[in-house]
Amino acid sequence: MGHVQITPSILNADFAALGAEVGRIPGADWVHVDVMDNHFVPNLTFGPTMVEALARSTETPLDAHLMIADVDRHAPAYVEAGCGSVTFHVEAASAPVRLAREVRAAGARASMALRPATPVEPYEDLLPELDMLLLMTVEPGFGGQQFLDLVLPKIRRARALLDKHGVETWLQVDGGVSLETIGRCAEAGADTFVAGSAVFSADDPDRMVAELRAAAEAARDGAGS
Ligand code: DX5
Ligand code: ZN
Repeated sequence: MGHVQITPSILNADFAALGAEVGRIPGADWVHVDVMDNHFVPNLTFGPTMVEALARSTETPLDAHLMIADVDRHAPAYVEAGCGSVTFHVEAASAPVRLAREVRAAGARASMALRPATPVEPYEDLLPELDMLLLMTVEPGFGGQQFLDLVLPKIRRARALLDKHGVETWLQVDGGVSLETIGRCAEAGADTFVAGSAVFSADDPDRMVAELRAAAEAARDGAGS
């Protein structure tokens, strides 16, 4: 299992001041950018031009989460925009193996996301192709939703599959992650944690990043790993 990483989502930050908002979380390992197209999910955010501007404004690497249709065609633009990691949804990809290889060849970490109802088992043989697997813990589309405990068994099963294959693939969770829920995710085997509203609704977002990290590390130590 990789070390604990906290990747705040800017979805609930002030979109009119994104550069300044990212400046409030210097302790973050990555900045998670949620790209939505009003087709794959019923919400619309920003595209590669905005992401490129944000990448230029910070030293922290960007973790792009593409919630977009026709992702095989659009993902490479986010590598070019300067993202260090690019996540596509398997439900939106027509050739996930080819796409993961393309993202890696272009110089970014390749990551694949699963909606809450998408099982992990059919993708076992793809895991070595991935630098990260994202298990959504809400239905994608909006920040501030309630964490879905029903995903916890899938996190455990994914952790077991990753360990079985001996791969270094990170296991990320996204949606409803807070001080109240992060421990359950870490104990189940996640190592990379997206938190949007928990971080940006805190008085001190950077202190919340540190508190989330401490809570995840404590839960993992308690789980004996
Ligand atoms: C939801 C996005 C998440 C979201 C998380 O579709 O993928 O990254 O911003 O926000 P919270 O932490 O508020 O659930
Ligand atoms: Zn996300």
